[in-house]
Amino acid sequence: MRKKLVIGNWKMHGSRAVNAELLSGILAAGPLPCDAAVCVPFVYVADTAVSLAASALRWGAQDVSAHAQGAYTGEVSAAMLRELGCRYAIVGHSERRAGHAETDAQVADKAKAALAHGLTPVVCVGETLEQREAGQTEAVVKRQLSAVIHALGHCAGEMVVAYEPVWAIGTGRTATPEQAQSVHAVLRAQLRAATAHADTMKILYGGSVKPDNAATLFAQPDIDGGLIGGASLKAADFVAICRAAR
Ligand code: 13P
Repeated sequence: MRKKLVIGNWKMHGSRAVNAELLSGILAAGPLPCDAAVCVPFVYVADTAVSLAASALRWGAQDVSAHAQGAYTGEVSAAMLRELGCRYAIVGHSERRAGHAETDAQVADKAKAALAHGLTPVVCVGETLEQREAGQTEAVVKRQLSAVIHALGHCAGEMVVAYEPVWAIGTGRTATPEQAQSVHAVLRAQLRAATAHADTMKILYGGSVKPDNAATLFAQPDIDGGLIGGASLKAADFVAICRAAR
């Protein structure tokens, strides 16, 4: 049985005071039944590293450079993040694919850079509403994942995959557990064809996960936890979602 993983993606929210209150609220809940992490804006990485140093709650970044070092103004390398104790780096979030024109190849390069420096890439895939309605869901997510599988080669088994249908992100419109499971099963099969570790890899679902829908999503056989946006900004909601992941 795969241990569940719940990751909060704070996106561009927070302040030092708000983050401190949120983290202390999560920590005050005590031990969680799942692995859990928060992915914070770069500017709060150092604070977060200190706040969580003695806790089981892990942390990550929301993006990472594909490059090791050099003249890349504004970018943050995987080695820099690792030096501070970072565990995860989200790559290929749909907000970056859409808003920053990130390609499958760039996402794959970022995932590779993350792994090379000891970070676990959380590789996001997902279709738009238009693609779903055109019957392209499977082809889109397979194409997105395939680029990363090829770039990682024999290390592909070390990534975490997150299925986030774009139409479910921040909309309050969650994929039904059956819709999500059917895409997760497709992704699992694709991973099985690529790596011997597919059955221990985690495939997270993201898109309007809330305390009241988390348990039914997480009960699906191929849903191994969640990547949580809005609900990760409230300690009580994030903790409730983590408690649904058992
Ligand atoms: P919401 O939970 O706010 O829909 O966001 C999901 C997401 O994009 C997590 O990365």
